[in-house]
Amino acid sequence: MTVMRALVVNHESPFPLALAEVPEPTTAPHEALIRVEAAAVNPGELADRLPAAPSGTIAGWEAAGVVLRPAADGSGPEAGTPVVTVWEGGAWAELRAVPTAALGVLPSGADFAAASTLPVAAGSALRALRALSAAPGRRILITGASGAVGRFAVQLGAAAGAHVIAAVRRPEAGTELLNLGAAEVVATPALTDLAPVDGVLETVGGEILVEAFGRLKAGGQLLSVGRASGRDITFRPEQLMGDHGSHGRSITTFFFGDGTPGVDADLTWLGGQLAAGRLHTHVSRVVSAADAPAALTEPADGRVVIDFS
Ligand SMILES: NC(=O)c1ccc[n+]([C@@H]2O[C@H](COP(=O)([O-])OP(=O)(O)OC[C@H]3O[C@@H](n4cnc5c(N)ncnc54)[C@H](OP(=O)(O)O)[C@@H]3O)[C@@H](O)[C@H]2O)c1
Repeated sequence: MTVMRALVVNHESPFPLALAEVPEPTTAPHEALIRVEAAAVNPGELADRLPAAPSGTIAGWEAAGVVLRPAADGSGPEAGTPVVTVWEGGAWAELRAVPTAALGVLPSGADFAAASTLPVAAGSALRALRALSAAPGRRILITGASGAVGRFAVQLGAAAGAHVIAAVRRPEAGTELLNLGAAEVVATPALTDLAPVDGVLETVGGEILVEAFGRLKAGGQLLSVGRASGRDITFRPEQLMGDHGSHGRSITTFFFGDGTPGVDADLTWLGGQLAAGRLHTHVSRVVSAADAPAALTEPADGRVVIDFS
């Protein structure tokens, strides 16, 4: 049996993750075997997935690397192709098996650490903005704009021609978001002075979702992507009432892994934007796999990336 290094869930460790030697993954006919160079860490994985996963699980949603063995069914790229991948788990390892529908091709010479941060955050931002019909003439409010999803959404929304309003709790984050393409920056939680918007990409939850809903035009849509604050969402009855200016508003839930096809095309496009310098990511630290369990207990401003090269 051939073994590889992987970060596996270990509930006996103080932080529930440990570097271990485990068997190499087997591949189904529609899966390629990827040599992982870099894998990103999402806050949702640490907060929700690790505590619930059984010991021995190889965690990690997103990783960038090189195709070692193409899929047996002939789908996907050939051996040696640089790729970015997303799947339920298995990213935090030297090798990962992933369906070819869940990988995008990267331009040669791509920065693997930066690319590894794309799938969940940029993929969600892209799909959410599509659902909100971000386009010229549309006013789109993005809450939690200083976070990973928010920063990508600001850039992609502006590139789509929408009037992007970035909502932040730390005013000092505003300058960078203006540089990334926001037309306006507003401070949360109170949004009462903001002119009505056509759509909201909401990542924070709590009272910010309620405030943002209150800024929607008639027929406007709030897409509830995340709940970074962890706070409950409470509407007073009158906050849900519509009048001549605000009837027909909706709140829609969102899930990146909902099975909508086209993840491969979206990731390929996002990788191209990144490599061309039209999309910027925020990697705060790159750590070795051995250092990752300790490093992940520290707060991070931006994404932590695990180096498996
Ligand atoms: N539904 C899906 O498929 C999907 C996909 C991707 C992400 N998500 C979820 O979306 C959320 C954002 O993800 P992310 O990767 O962008 O996270 P992130 O990088 O940690 O960013 C979190 C953002 O929320 C802000 N924030 C946190 N607590 C806040 C509070 N109490 N009040 C105001 N703002 C607050 C942060 O502001 P500061 O910069 O000031 O800290 C930051 O802008 C998470 O809940 C994540 O689980 C869901």
